[in-house]
Amino acid sequence: MDTKRRKIIQSLAAAGAAAAIPGQTIASLPSADGFLTSADTVPQPIEDGLGATDPGPRNVTLDLLNPDMLTPPPTDAGDMPNLKFSFSNVPMRLTDGGWARQVTQVDLPIATSIAGVNMRLKPGAIRELHWHPVAEWAYMLVGTAQVTCLDTEGRNFVGNVGVGDLWYFPTGYPHSIQALNEGCEFLLAFDSGKFSENDTFLLSDWFTHTPKGVLAKNFGVPQSDFQNLPSPSQRYIYPGRVPGPPSVMRVSDPYGSSPQSFTYRMLAQSPIQTPKGTVRIVDSRSFHISKTIAAVLQDIEPGGVREMHWHPNADEWQYYIEGNGRMTVFGAEGRARTYDYQAGDVGYAPTNMGHYIENTGDTTLRFLALFKTAHFAEVSLAQWMAVTPPELVQGDLNLPQEVMNALPKKKPFIV
Ligand SMILES: [Fe+2]
Ligand SMILES: [Fe+2]
Repeated sequence: MDTKRRKIIQSLAAAGAAAAIPGQTIASLPSADGFLTSADTVPQPIEDGLGATDPGPRNVTLDLLNPDMLTPPPTDAGDMPNLKFSFSNVPMRLTDGGWARQVTQVDLPIATSIAGVNMRLKPGAIRELHWHPVAEWAYMLVGTAQVTCLDTEGRNFVGNVGVGDLWYFPTGYPHSIQALNEGCEFLLAFDSGKFSENDTFLLSDWFTHTPKGVLAKNFGVPQSDFQNLPSPSQRYIYPGRVPGPPSVMRVSDPYGSSPQSFTYRMLAQSPIQTPKGTVRIVDSRSFHISKTIAAVLQDIEPGGVREMHWHPNADEWQYYIEGNGRMTVFGAEGRARTYDYQAGDVGYAPTNMGHYIENTGDTTLRFLALFKTAHFAEVSLAQWMAVTPPELVQGDLNLPQEVMNALPKKKPFIV
């Protein structure tokens, strides 16, 4: 096991409440997990005198990554929908230009509002010209790319994006993505949980399924000009040459360039600073074309907590970029469930369900929260209590004056 992986698992094991049995190691399990070494201790479903050892078949790696499943906080209760799914649990679609994988409503049934795709392009590789019946929002994770788009007024766009930059293509707008020198990896979010990346309208697919005589009439050239069309199976993501800068690549357009930018520098936006981390909110008020996806990039320092809150207007679809964290979602009627998240995981908090996110590791926890809405909205529990008549708050909760005095009248975001 590499050092980084070991560190993650050790920190998770340390953060988790699961009890380890002295002397019991991986090697003593009936089915040893080759991913771990014999020196790793085995967490057990035991806490506060409850539970018992698990001597039978088990997946210790998953147990270590999900300590709040093995020994849930005693405050967890009731049945909740599954609110976690990892990109590591879905198949890669491998091509000669890179790869793609997706987490949709098929994988995470509660996630009706957004579907996510994780895509990698080798240097110069091209995500074929295409469009789709949903809008596309993206965050660049690694490397750089050049994107193109055409709006419905016939105005074109070419722009470059790097780490922390976004793009947004409205429903039906045709576009492409091409990696620059170092290649790239990005997260795509579509504003429908049912959308599959395999269901896009591909340029090569349409040409292949149009009579050549019609193609000849449509473009005013002989049919023989269409003898060498590639199979759509050879496109989708395919190798290419690194393009020049946008100023060189942009084609003269009699209608001009699109007046709205399809890209946005999220990391360049000044964050909301808090003692325990930073928050960047980007929605249609700042990234004007992004009418159906609002995004919040959150960096929580070790020990910090994204305060207890909820969102009145949209479900929250999360993508964990780095670090370790946990979220408890309160579902009303006495229901609550806690999930642990690592890089590459998807989390979900349905509309109006209260939640917090806690950094449980020893490094910064960075994650994206995406919402299918034009305007990001949230209600802060602490701020609500601070500006409500204190008699009502104390009547509900019987809180000492010390708590009342500590309530912040401005949203603290991360505490
Ligand atoms: Fe697309
Ligand atoms: Fe939230």
